[in-house]
Amino acid sequence: MPQKTYYLDDETDTRALGESLARALSGGLRIYLHGNLGTGKTTLTRAMLKAAGHAGKVKSPTYTLVEPYVIELNGHPVDFFHFDLYRMGSAEEFLEAGFREYFNENSICIIEWAEKADTELPPPDLAISLEVKGDGRTASLTASSDKGRHCLENLHYTSHS
Ligand SMILES: Nc1ncnc2c1ncn2[C@@H]1O[C@H](COP(=O)(O)OP(=O)(O)OP(=O)(O)O)[C@@H](O)[C@H]1O
Ligand SMILES: [Mg+2]
Repeated sequence: MPQKTYYLDDETDTRALGESLARALSGGLRIYLHGNLGTGKTTLTRAMLKAAGHAGKVKSPTYTLVEPYVIELNGHPVDFFHFDLYRMGSAEEFLEAGFREYFNENSICIIEWAEKADTELPPPDLAISLEVKGDGRTASLTASSDKGRHCLENLHYTSHS
C-alpha cells in the first residue's frame, strides 16, 4: 500500500501538513485519523479547513460527534464533515444518528476515533496515524484506494519550522 511518513517537529509542522493535505483533497475522500489523545488530529483538521477556505471557527466535535462545513473545491461547494467519535457509546449509535448519510461521492469526511464505529463505517481512502515521538509527532499516511493514492501523490509537504 502506498505510504508516506513525516516527522512533525512541532504544532507548526502539523498545521503545515494539514495545509498540504487541503491542496490534495477531492470530493468523496474519506480520511480516518488514528492516534492517542492529544496527538494532533484536531490540529491537523483545523489547519486543513482553514487552508481550504473556511474562515470561521473550527470547534472540536467532542460532544456533537460531528461538525459540518462547506468548502470550495475546484469552484464547487463540497460538504466537509469533521467527526470525533471518541464519546460515542457504540457503533449502533452511529447508525441511529443517521451518520451514514453524510458519506457520499461528493462529501469529504475526516474522522477522529473511527475505531468507535468501525463495523458501520465504509473503509477509508486514506489513514493517517499520529504518534508521539520525542517532542514531536510521526505522521504515517497510508492510501487504500485509488482516491487515497491520488491524494498521496498530490501531497507535497514541506516543514515550515
Ligand atoms: N507535531 C507536534 N509536536 C508537538 N506537539 C504538537 C504537534 N502537533 C500538535 N501538537 C500539540 O499537541 C496537541 C494536540 O491536540 P489536538 O487536540 O489536536 O489532539 P487530538 O489528537 O485531536 O486529541 P483528541 O483525541 O483528544 O481529540 C496540541 O496541544 C498541539 O499544540
Ligand atoms: Mg481531537
